[in-house]
Amino acid sequence: MKKLSRRNLMQLGMVGTVTALFKASESWGEMIAVPTPKEVEGPFYPAVDQIDKDADLTRVGGRNGRAKGQQIIIRGSVKNIGGQPVENAIIDIWQANAAGRYNHPRDSNPAPEDSYFQGWAIIRSDASGLYRFRTVKPGAYPATKSWTRPPHIHFKISRQGFPQLITQMYFPNESLNAIDLLYRNKTGAEQTLMTARQTGEYEGMLIYTYNIVLGKS
Ligand SMILES: [Fe+2]
Repeated sequence: MKKLSRRNLMQLGMVGTVTALFKASESWGEMIAVPTPKEVEGPFYPAVDQIDKDADLTRVGGRNGRAKGQQIIIRGSVKNIGGQPVENAIIDIWQANAAGRYNHPRDSNPAPEDSYFQGWAIIRSDASGLYRFRTVKPGAYPATKSWTRPPHIHFKISRQGFPQLITQMYFPNESLNAIDLLYRNKTGAEQTLMTARQTGEYEGMLIYTYNIVLGKS
């Protein structure tokens, strides 16, 4: 990572932003990125294996249709706390469909299943530590009678030499975030690290960026 002095950062108007994302060593000579916060795995990690686990969750191999819902792209980097890219990390992703239903035998939500939605992917970061997938925005769903989970995507990231990271990615500007029993338990800085940013658009699909930092073993 390029070293920036506190003065450089002030000139860039970035002190507030950067202090939320980095812990500085005493000298500010070395920037240490804060690892992405962990979150519980939840009850719906896929229970039944499936052939198609590629980076396009809006289609299922062998089926001629597209998943319902708003198509989006999620992309980002996987880095270590020193800011170096982590290549070949295994990124295991699972989520509810646009109606808020998981493809899981224990999901009792009466919302409809979507046989064109892949729901689960296992991809890898590339040589530059980057990853990308296409999916649909997951729906909110009832966790209990009084608790509605906001839209989120589950991530499990594995790479030799790093502790496995299990977490959940949230979407910005969701009114359900602030009252979610998991999200609201995080500090503001942790919430920032766990929430994707909307960074563009590609062929009508919103692009969200979610950068991941793996901690030390
Ligand atoms: Fe979930």
